[in-house]
Amino acid sequence: MGKAFRAGIIGTGSYVPERVLTNFDLEKMVDTNDEWIRTRTGIRERRIAKEDQATSDLAYEAAQRALEASDVAAEALDLIIVATITPDTAFPSTANILQDRLGAHRAAAFDQAAACSGFIYALATAAQFIESGVYRYVLVVGAETLSRIVDWEDRNTCVLFGDGAGAAVLGPVPEDEGVRAFVLGSDGSGGELLKLPAGGSRLPASHDTVDRRLHYLKMNGREVFKFAVRVMNQASDEVIEKAGLTKDAIDFLVPHQANLRIIESARERLELPAEKVVVNLDRFGNMSTASIPVALDEAVRAGKIQPGDHLLMVGFGAGLTWGALVLRWSASGSGV
Ligand code: UT7
Repeated sequence: MGKAFRAGIIGTGSYVPERVLTNFDLEKMVDTNDEWIRTRTGIRERRIAKEDQATSDLAYEAAQRALEASDVAAEALDLIIVATITPDTAFPSTANILQDRLGAHRAAAFDQAAACSGFIYALATAAQFIESGVYRYVLVVGAETLSRIVDWEDRNTCVLFGDGAGAAVLGPVPEDEGVRAFVLGSDGSGGELLKLPAGGSRLPASHDTVDRRLHYLKMNGREVFKFAVRVMNQASDEVIEKAGLTKDAIDFLVPHQANLRIIESARERLELPAEKVVVNLDRFGNMSTASIPVALDEAVRAGKIQPGDHLLMVGFGAGLTWGALVLRWSASGSGV
């Protein structure tokens, strides 16, 4: 056990597949139209992985970029956490596969399943290992190939999701930087609202489950929408207070990207101008665990986020789960 530190993000990276699927492409696949998708969700297009690309392949690209940005070698990683709902396989974990490909020989590795809140859960987990002095460098990845579990015949869901990966390297940072506070929550009674019914121990894969399309994501969009608006606001208020801040101290909101109307509701509540909210769902749709880290990486690389800025990240999703985290930004590669 070493000395206790504050944990911060010291490098980010992201990757999205090249193939673009536009709303107009979807018009040819299901009974929908660009206008409906744009006005109800804010999404214009999304990325789709190639047939031979699995979640770990996307995660690998994002992880390499985050390692480069942080100036941390793969061999120096102590732990890899991959947040995903579309792992390459049920086991081994996608984190194990990634560890091998990166050559992160010293690292422990596991997947974390908290659906779209997964990246926040993983950040909070990583921070505990660093702040306790147990580990120094932790790679956290949110990666998804949701195109593999979306029912391309169901217009209620297939227009919403996309593939991608985002990563962050966490390490020890000076006392006044890094993770200030987080809140994590769960309401398992809402599990039926958003789920993948088959393929687990409840409903193992069979001809019948395949015939009944039970290996595809099912969602009650309207109920999830209500939950999302409520929980985004509650979790934001709670974490800002826990961090000892007031909402005017927040420089950037990096929200989960499920629906622009949900993001707008949070933005209004926080009284933030539009340029202080990082939005990418117009180009990538909902990438579940990857939405927040991809948005974060884009904002960092665009030079929007500067050392000292207070970031509020908020996620929500299946479980039901939610998570919010306030972080004071550190310079890239600024570990102590
Ligand atoms: O990250 C995971 C969390 N997931 C979410 O946060 C999703 C949250 N929910 C939502 O974003 C919204 O509820 C949706 C975008 C999924 C749906 O928007 P909505 O405003 O709640 O629409 P709705 O489900 O109430 O449906 C309105 C109408 C329905 O027609 P009727 O019954 O009024 O005739 C739907 O059948 O829109 C219809 N509809 C569509 N029409 C054209 C549903 N999907 C489509 C579509 N194209 N793709």
